[in-house]
Amino acid sequence: MREDGTGPAVGTKPVLRVLAGERQAVPPVWLMRQAGRYLPEYRALREKAGGFLDLCFNPELAAEVTLQPVRRFGFDAAILFSDILVVPLALGRKVEFLVGEGPKLEPLTDAEGVKRLAKRIDAMVVAPIYETVRRVRKSLDDKTTLIGFCGAPWTVATYMVAGEGTPDQAPARMFAYREPETFALLIDRLVGASIEYLVGQLKAGAECVQLFDTWAGVLSQGEFERWSIEPAKRIVEGVRGQVKGARIIGFPRGVGAKLWRYVQDTGVDAVGLDWTQGLIYARDHIQPLKPVQGNVDPLALLAGGGALDREVDAVMEALAGGPFIFNLGHGILPPTPIAHVERMLKRVRG
Ligand code: CP3
Repeated sequence: MREDGTGPAVGTKPVLRVLAGERQAVPPVWLMRQAGRYLPEYRALREKAGGFLDLCFNPELAAEVTLQPVRRFGFDAAILFSDILVVPLALGRKVEFLVGEGPKLEPLTDAEGVKRLAKRIDAMVVAPIYETVRRVRKSLDDKTTLIGFCGAPWTVATYMVAGEGTPDQAPARMFAYREPETFALLIDRLVGASIEYLVGQLKAGAECVQLFDTWAGVLSQGEFERWSIEPAKRIVEGVRGQVKGARIIGFPRGVGAKLWRYVQDTGVDAVGLDWTQGLIYARDHIQPLKPVQGNVDPLALLAGGGALDREVDAVMEALAGGPFIFNLGHGILPPTPIAHVERMLKRVRG
């Protein structure tokens, strides 16, 4: 925030300039999941840290991991190293990450469980994360933006209800159809927790935040409006009520042409495009409304070579004529070679 409390200073940072609606001659670049297992320096540090959550809650190590990809590639943004499942943890649920298996939570299957959720996030749980934000912000230069984040309520709820990742998010979808009032209460709790958590990150020094709605694409039109758009809108309003001018990127993955409604209704400053999103649709119908971010297929980056070049060129040709942040269409995959990331950056930056 600026000292007068009027929100983030735009200054010289290319990502913030794009979020303010300005096109950059060379688009700023960062990658979703840019800190992680494809980096040898991450794997080395991860081995020393113990579990994944130990790393997330250790400000010294989490700050270091956040900065690793920025140092190596000169990305225009650092994204806080943490996870979307910190919020259920801070609401009193059990969350574990099992090696090779992903997240495991105690499933939330009934009204009793939802009612028992804490009404506010536990300040003790999130304190080390805000400390990571402060440390990273101090280490960044005047070109690099610090991005905070949280999971969107719908996506976080899919893990809380099922207790793990699922192929089609059926447990949460069934819960929402069968017990809409109880499910609405869960979403309400997550909206409140998300506002509190994002405001905490912004006050600690994050310059913008991204709302990850990874599983928005499995929802029907009506359910999408109710469980993704409405909560996002409330989060945007709630955060801006406490941090004037807070910059927020929405990333509802896999929603196709429903993206227009999301952009119209939520009030986000920019939207992330997944790799299946139509480039001409995005250019003609989304970018005139809000800056866009994305959307090279993470598998094209893994494949490399001519396939990668063609995907990068197509994205640049369609979107670099307007306000645009170059990114992938979802997180970078762990087996991705460093040389492919370097090749992509060279092509974008010329
Ligand atoms: O982008 C970054 O570099 C910042 C850190 C970040 C992580 N997770 C670190 C992480 C961010 C922004 C996330 C978001 C996240 N986490 C999402 C939304 C975006 C997306 O990718 O869809 C979701 C759905 C999660 C939940 C989650 N966390 C799952 C399903 C898994 C297991 C699968 C996997 O990728 O390992 C995680 C673990 C996780 N989160 C790791 C990292 C670096 C791997 C942990 C390890 O080191 O073993």
